[in-house]
Amino acid sequence: MAQKVVVSGLALALASFMVFEIGFKRAWGYKFTIDTTIGFEEVPLNSSNFEIQRPYDVPQSARYSFVNGVHKLWVYSSDKPHTPTSNTNPRTEIRILGHNYSSGVWQFEGNGYVPRDTSGVCIMQIFGGNHHATTLMLQVYNGALRYYNTDLVLDPNIYNKWFRLNVIHDVEAKKVMVFIDGVHKLHVNDRGGNAHYFKCGVYAQNNDSYYMESRWKGIKIFKKC
Ligand SMILES: *[C@@H]1O[C@H](CO)[C@@H](O)[C@H](O)[C@H]1NC(C)=O
Ligand SMILES: *[C@@H]1O[C@H](CO)[C@@H](O)[C@H](O)[C@H]1NC(C)=O
Ligand SMILES: *[C@@H]1O[C@H](CO)[C@@H](O)[C@H](O)[C@H]1NC(C)=O
Repeated sequence: MAQKVVVSGLALALASFMVFEIGFKRAWGYKFTIDTTIGFEEVPLNSSNFEIQRPYDVPQSARYSFVNGVHKLWVYSSDKPHTPTSNTNPRTEIRILGHNYSSGVWQFEGNGYVPRDTSGVCIMQIFGGNHHATTLMLQVYNGALRYYNTDLVLDPNIYNKWFRLNVIHDVEAKKVMVFIDGVHKLHVNDRGGNAHYFKCGVYAQNNDSYYMESRWKGIKIFKKC
């Protein structure tokens, strides 16, 4: 009960902050950046928490590298799925293992980079929804970072730059919030489900380019205290 109050308190605080923020932005054209990790606790990660999913018929090194702290993941539109029995599109993704969740408030942080000409691809997702495979997908189409393949654009110009991505999922409030470089960009309902985990990389969607790549560094997972 007490926890519920804290959680809805967080949602309320964020909601009122956002109303204020939007009003202020309209009036003054100023961008607020906030530290989204305040009140969260970092969950320890090591290499055993990173599973690399890749086309099943090629070695990992043909689609993934980890150099100087940078995970580079790439895939081709002609690639096979990640298992011989899967009917899904080609992907090379990091799946966070060992931190499945079904309650609480969780946060993914990572610094991402998407090279020009990568298009028609999901670069980050929260797995698990009710009648959907996912509760969130961030997709890139012709340079724009979108909520799924919708008109909700988080950044119209995502190519060839490092950006810090923070994704907060409040399971009880059924909300997902996304921040880029500390600036609030998206606040949507989740899509239900009771078993979630985070993924990032490249997962081909509609109108995928032949070559798709994203890079990630400083991947962290936080849980609300
Ligand atoms: C990773 O951390 C877990 C505990 O969370 C530990 O059991 C495991 O040995 C560690 N693995 C490596 C490769 O450090
Ligand atoms: C995490 O979720 C996946 C997919 O639902 C499942 O295959 C896996 O066994 C789960 N892992 C744990 C530790 O619960
Ligand atoms: C995919 O490409 C076709 C042909 O270029 C275009 O008509 C269509 O709008 C594109 N769809 C998306 C989702 O970009």
